[in-house]
Amino acid sequence: MPTVDIKNILSTFVALEPKKSWSFKDVTRSETTALTHSYHRYPAKFIPNIVEKLLNDFTSEGDLVFDPFGGCGTTLVESKRLGRKSLGFDINPVAQFIAEVKVTPINPEKLDIEFERLSISFLKEKTVISKNHLKNERLLYWFEKKTIKELDFIYSKIKKIKDTKIKKFFLCAFSHNLKNTSRWLMKSTKPTVDKNKKNPQTVSTFLRHARSMVKKNQQFYLNLKKDKNLQTPAKILLRDSTKKFPLKNNSVDLIVTSPPYVTSYEYADLHQLTLLWFGGDNQNFKNWENPSNNFIEFRKNFVGTSYKNKQKGEIGSSIGLDIVDRLFVLDKALSKDVSNYFIDMNLAFSEMYRVLKSGKHACIVIGNTQLKGVDILNAEVATEQMLKIGFKKYQIIKREVPNKMITPWRDISTGKFTSIKNPNKKCAYEYEYILVMEK
Ligand SMILES: C[S@@+](CC[C@H](N)C(=O)[O-])C[C@H]1O[C@@H](n2cnc3c(N)ncnc32)[C@H](O)[C@@H]1O
Repeated sequence: MPTVDIKNILSTFVALEPKKSWSFKDVTRSETTALTHSYHRYPAKFIPNIVEKLLNDFTSEGDLVFDPFGGCGTTLVESKRLGRKSLGFDINPVAQFIAEVKVTPINPEKLDIEFERLSISFLKEKTVISKNHLKNERLLYWFEKKTIKELDFIYSKIKKIKDTKIKKFFLCAFSHNLKNTSRWLMKSTKPTVDKNKKNPQTVSTFLRHARSMVKKNQQFYLNLKKDKNLQTPAKILLRDSTKKFPLKNNSVDLIVTSPPYVTSYEYADLHQLTLLWFGGDNQNFKNWENPSNNFIEFRKNFVGTSYKNKQKGEIGSSIGLDIVDRLFVLDKALSKDVSNYFIDMNLAFSEMYRVLKSGKHACIVIGNTQLKGVDILNAEVATEQMLKIGFKKYQIIKREVPNKMITPWRDISTGKFTSIKNPNKKCAYEYEYILVMEK
């Protein structure tokens, strides 16, 4: 194992100044939501501009780009647009589903016809009530009965579409709107009921979003066609990235990823409405039954979750061990969560090293935070882990974080997300780092 100078890592980070060219402060919302990027909300997705710049700096057309924490597919969409083959993994079937739809351009004329047909069917035909959804206790907790019936009506019309790609496209629009039409408190990072939310307009909300997606698909399709990238492969697989990757040694040209953060987002909880709704549909979502029925077990496998039992394994970082020890005195459960997180990330970094080609780069977008007054130096820990695994430090970029978080504030004493009104607040991720490591 290479010897790693910890003091040097810590002082490198202290001396770093934010790089203006990486903040993308002037980038407008219409740019970050261009193409298929705005199909579905997703917590902590990175802005496409970061991926674009990394792809331009470190790859050529035809290279294979890999994102082991692929989320809703930002890396894949940008790779396809720029003519790079891409592969993503995610443990969350909802992420896999969204990413798949986002990298699947559809002939705009065909889509227009189907959208027209679908809109008309909402006007003409009678409501279809599925008993399954009305019997589901958890759906009844999140939706009014009347809303479930209306959503079922929309769902039944979409399911009739014969073309699978087009059907999935509209199911993605449907999934995006589940939160809007439920009792879910929209700005909350935790599943919370909004008592003031009443009488959602299900059909018009669906049509509005679907219409905007139809326009975005056209942009994406024409852009890919112009650059001859319609056939460029982009695939996302349902995988646990703390386990051995089903990839050959030295097979990847670039890794671009933003891993989950510890105790920040419970991704499984945040996507439960989609899992609940689609989970019962064995025809269209075969492998979803298990996560939907065994939700409690399923959510334990996410990196960064607080639902996981204590893991055995190597943290692979003295900086990390010190953080875990300091937290142990203050909050044993939190110390366990952070320890699990470092162990999982160490496993993922080892696999990233194995599959990357020699001389190629892994770019990790990661931020630090503070929990119970202890600095959680995720970026420094990741750097130490990666160097110990064998990566060479190529470049570390510090960048100001634009407003990507729904709630960027944490309470200083509890470490929990809090509102802007709390005087005891601290910005959770003011800066983040892009660790560019070379194999
Ligand atoms: C910060 S998000 C990535 C967002 C992504 N960059 C995007 O723009 O959509 C982290 C992702 O890691 C996924 N994840 C968590 N644990 C995982 C695991 N064990 N294996 C694979 N993916 C995992 C989460 O589901 C989440 O989608």
